[in-house]
Amino acid sequence: MSKVATFRIPGQITFGAGAAETVGAEAERLGATHAFVLSDPNLQKVGVTERIVASLSTQGVRSTVYAEIEFEPSIQSVAPASAAAAKASGCDLVIGLGGGSTMDTAKAVAVLTRNGGQAEDYLGIGLVKQRGVPLILMPTTSGTGAEITPNALFYIPAVREKRAIVSPHIIPDVALLDPLVTLTVPPAVTAATGLDALSHAVESYTSLNASPLTDLYALEAIRLVGVHLRTAVANGSDLAAREGMLRASLYAGIGIGNAGTNIVHALAYPLQGQHRVTHGVANSLLLPYGMEFNALSNLSKFATVAEALGEPIAGLSPRAAAARSTEACRLLSQDIGIPQTMGEVGIKAKDIDDLVDGAMKMTRLLVNNPRQVRPEDARAIFERAL
Ligand SMILES: [Fe+2]
Repeated sequence: MSKVATFRIPGQITFGAGAAETVGAEAERLGATHAFVLSDPNLQKVGVTERIVASLSTQGVRSTVYAEIEFEPSIQSVAPASAAAAKASGCDLVIGLGGGSTMDTAKAVAVLTRNGGQAEDYLGIGLVKQRGVPLILMPTTSGTGAEITPNALFYIPAVREKRAIVSPHIIPDVALLDPLVTLTVPPAVTAATGLDALSHAVESYTSLNASPLTDLYALEAIRLVGVHLRTAVANGSDLAAREGMLRASLYAGIGIGNAGTNIVHALAYPLQGQHRVTHGVANSLLLPYGMEFNALSNLSKFATVAEALGEPIAGLSPRAAAARSTEACRLLSQDIGIPQTMGEVGIKAKDIDDLVDGAMKMTRLLVNNPRQVRPEDARAIFERAL
């Protein structure tokens, strides 16, 4: 018997090579006359931002481009900077074109433009009382799934933590996914964001909040990562691999948007807040250890993860089959050149006390974990990952 579960996704998801060119028509459909486009300098350099502005212009929609997005943004980069610029532009549509940092900033800007206040006011669960101005999100990396989730993450310098605005009101009106705009992502970013997507898929598939609906997406996302991530890293111009990874990222995002992440993201956030390790790398460092720890909770689901990653599990005991899932993740991570230890990103044994404290504060995620996590469990995982 399955429990009551709510499943939310954007009102429209448009996916495919060339989807970016439809942004003007979508803006017009949403009744927009002036779009505030959040982007970054790299996308301007390779001409992607220009194509979006041109598509808007053909539909008579004016645009203001704001390309000063901070990577892994601090809360101050949203308010007053980008939100003030959006208000000053008089926009009636916000477009987030970029990776998770840009899309999360765009979510907050859309809310602040209509609802006022400061970004800090909305940090927490359910504090956004009404939707912001219409929002279109267009991912240019394959990993965060931010184009469909109800979360926007920001770095809070005063406490060295990442905190989230969580609300269904920040799920965009339209998610536009075009693999062509991901072709120029460098291999290291492809690798790290790809493993972030795999973390999303595995964590949501095994979350206490998993439902038959989220399982459909999460399991297919795991399979797609297994098939496409190595190729996308090895040859970024392989459009089939890029398309496979963008689809994996979307499906894994649908998984976490509805079932949440758990132990891997909970332990990875203090690596980002305290040591500024990037999101994808932080998760990839902890993914095999989190899976190893959680396997006990549901051997059959972890065996299915192994199978989805292409591991032969026929004839194996449930325990041995589940263990293959961890092994498959390790091999994938090694093959694509991701750091394998926390030591490689500058973490020392003396840092572990603070990491454990930071991880245990992530109750929003730990409540979804299928195995109870005590401080000594978090410590043991950090020690093994060092
Ligand atoms: Fe993530």
